[in-house]
Amino acid sequence: MDRFIIEGGVRLRGKVSVSGAKNAALPILAATLLADGPCTLQDVPDLYDVRTMIGLLGELGVEAKRRKDGALVTRVVDASPVTASYERVRAMRASICVLGPLVARRGRAKVSMPGGCSIGVRPIDLHLKGLKALGARIPMEAGYVEAEAPRLRGAEIYLGGTAGSTVTGTANVVMAATLAEGRTVIENAACEPEVADLCDFLRAMGAKVKGGGTPRIEIQGVASLHGARHRVIPDRIEAGTFLVAGAITRGEVEVTGARAEHLGAVRDFLQATGAELAVRDGSIAVRASNRPRAVDVATLPYPGFPTDLQAQAMALLAVAEGISVVSERIYPDRFQHVAELNRMGANIRKEGPSAVIQGVLDLSGAPVQATDLRASAGLLLAGLVARGATEVNRVDHIDRGYERIEERLAALGARIVRKPYAGSRASDRG
Ligand code: EPZ
Repeated sequence: MDRFIIEGGVRLRGKVSVSGAKNAALPILAATLLADGPCTLQDVPDLYDVRTMIGLLGELGVEAKRRKDGALVTRVVDASPVTASYERVRAMRASICVLGPLVARRGRAKVSMPGGCSIGVRPIDLHLKGLKALGARIPMEAGYVEAEAPRLRGAEIYLGGTAGSTVTGTANVVMAATLAEGRTVIENAACEPEVADLCDFLRAMGAKVKGGGTPRIEIQGVASLHGARHRVIPDRIEAGTFLVAGAITRGEVEVTGARAEHLGAVRDFLQATGAELAVRDGSIAVRASNRPRAVDVATLPYPGFPTDLQAQAMALLAVAEGISVVSERIYPDRFQHVAELNRMGANIRKEGPSAVIQGVLDLSGAPVQATDLRASAGLLLAGLVARGATEVNRVDHIDRGYERIEERLAALGARIVRKPYAGSRASDRG
């Protein structure tokens, strides 16, 4: 378990290109289970989570090989396996995305319940509600979802929950509906660009899907789906992370390959803190020269401010002038990073599903650790601006969602190195 050592205080300058979106690639990889032929996927990022999904697909009879040009070619070589083990699903919650395709294409699925994680309880009741509406029978047995359905039938499904829509729940139900008999309408579908990208890929495979990326998705079932080629959309969360890196260090960073239309709420937030944003063809540039202003922000389903950028925004607000309130409307417990930021000198108080941040003039480097991919990214950003050295431990969490992030930040001028884990338990706190 490596760690990053960061010497803060450098204003980042330069260009960084954004990778393909992890949260589009994962359901799209699961969708290859539906294909009766090979699929060629471009811009699938080389991340720990993607390798986990490829490993799971391997257990489910799908071969996935990287070509020399980086494209990933998948092929179903054995359509009989139907079990996603606890070990696999525990390693990555998004493994639940194989549930819909397995039930639709193989008539059965045995997928472990994902369990909770550091950002809170992660129920799948809406996933199961949608699949049951399509006619799947889903007994729960020893922590496993055992779904079966000789043939799914189209249905009208409302998929909203107490926290709004569900991204992977929408993905699961859309994928299952593509091979169901008849018409399916999903109301209160998730509108995230990653869902729209999945729907584009399904259409390329011959599925009849309309409304991807809107709250109402209509699917007309077909008998089978063929292989297809697809380029995964750019990762808006990674792009947003680099934009905050430019703002927090009061530098000038251009993120190339990003889609400005996927980052409306994030651009609005950064401008409200006083950063200057410039949108050019295929890139977004941020420039900040003064201390950020305090801004209130609430995380919401897309197109609202993304919960996956909440920790990063909090790092910026920790050094802002004034008091900010960050409200987490998607995962009320997603505040692992607050205690760690306070160890760096931040002044943040948790108030239920919100955090009240009294901006401080500067942070001081310290050894920190988080157990959530995006919280770790927030701590890394804080280290870029803190006085002295910050040691971010357990960077395996960051590697789940960001490709070689230390190399790319160093190319912008950051003083950051990856070190192998010190190894002595004594170096751990507590
Ligand atoms: C996706 O998770 C993302 N992961 C998450 O990104 C992201 O934080 C989340 O959407 C919200 O945007 C992937 O796409 C692989 P949800 P998902 O189902 O689909 C509640 C990252 O860092 N809910 O949209 O699991 C749930 O508790 C990860 O890349 C139910 O109540 O999230 C939450 O409050 C972290 N019942 C809200 O809905 C359900 O059946 C949104 O969850 C499902 C969800």
